[in-house]
Amino acid sequence: MKKNIAVLKGDGIGPEIVDQAILVLDTVGKKFGHEFTYSYVDIGGCSIDKYGVPITDEGMAICKASDSVLLGAVGGPKWDNVDPSIRPEKALLAVRKELGLFANLRPTKLFPQLADASPLKENIVGNGIDLMIVRELTGGIYFGARRTTIENGEKTATDEMTYSEHEIERIGRVAFESARKRGKKIASVDKANVLDSSRLWRAVMHKLSEEYPYVEYSDILVDNTAMQLVKNPGQFDVIVTENMFGDILSDEASMLTGSIGMMPSASLSSGTLGMYEPIHGSAPDIAGMDIANPIGTIMSVAMMLRFSFDMMEEADAIENAVNKALDDGYRTADIWKDRFKKVGCKEMGAIIASDL
Ligand code: IPM
Ligand code: MG
Repeated sequence: MKKNIAVLKGDGIGPEIVDQAILVLDTVGKKFGHEFTYSYVDIGGCSIDKYGVPITDEGMAICKASDSVLLGAVGGPKWDNVDPSIRPEKALLAVRKELGLFANLRPTKLFPQLADASPLKENIVGNGIDLMIVRELTGGIYFGARRTTIENGEKTATDEMTYSEHEIERIGRVAFESARKRGKKIASVDKANVLDSSRLWRAVMHKLSEEYPYVEYSDILVDNTAMQLVKNPGQFDVIVTENMFGDILSDEASMLTGSIGMMPSASLSSGTLGMYEPIHGSAPDIAGMDIANPIGTIMSVAMMLRFSFDMMEEADAIENAVNKALDDGYRTADIWKDRFKKVGCKEMGAIIASDL
């Protein structure tokens, strides 16, 4: 198969981790007889520096015309004070919106090899953590009306959170389908004791759950979810939630597994076009030092093969190679403990590629 991938390396550690993911993709391509070609697009701060905008129209067009998009990370202190309308993050939100990437899948899995990297005690993570956060990605407060007004010398700022039934139903379907293929259990997270948008969310999810009688359904409030994630993470299979709750809970969940550097994500549209990226940020403090963990990005590429290209065997091969590297004791600094072999970003990428 031939596939063209739009590559958005972005800022900070973005370029380093994406380079390792591309090495892995090229190795998979050689092994399984696929041809991957890459179209590079600037995104975030590096694009602001070159073009004055966080992504150009041409860049966006390349993403739209590609078979899928691979992203590193955007942002950094250098661009913290630019006008809000051109912040690096704006480009990320624009790509999500323009490509219709409404479903964000964030699998959170504790690699057994890393059980002692988790900040949680053995009696809590001992049974393993394997959950899938399904986050709505193109609605809610991220995309609602926003304004800052001034009256009598005092400023007032407003961000609206809006959801319509069709937006809730389509993300609900993705989550139920995911639960059907996994542990057949779904927790729908909301704040229905306070928010109207959450009450609608809950009503739509209840209706949908009638179509999936074999999936065990429950409602859970977002504050309680935050607590349950650290108290008993093993109780969760699929978690489905709106955009901002999902943003917050997925960072929390990733930490249970020891390092946010391990966690991949897929942002899917109703077709096969998707965007794949690690869930961590651009980590400007360690950029260019060759110590970042490329595994989240490499695992994202495995998700790309599985979800956009229907290459199941190839995706399994990448995940097995990551497992082997961990089994063999290789660790980047974020997951390293004294008895293991500390490797840099490039070396980790090379080891995983050679295990393929
Ligand atoms: C994420 C990130 C983004 C988000 C930022 C960079 C805009 O935190 O993908 O979780 O909030 O969605
Ligand atoms: Mg986030």
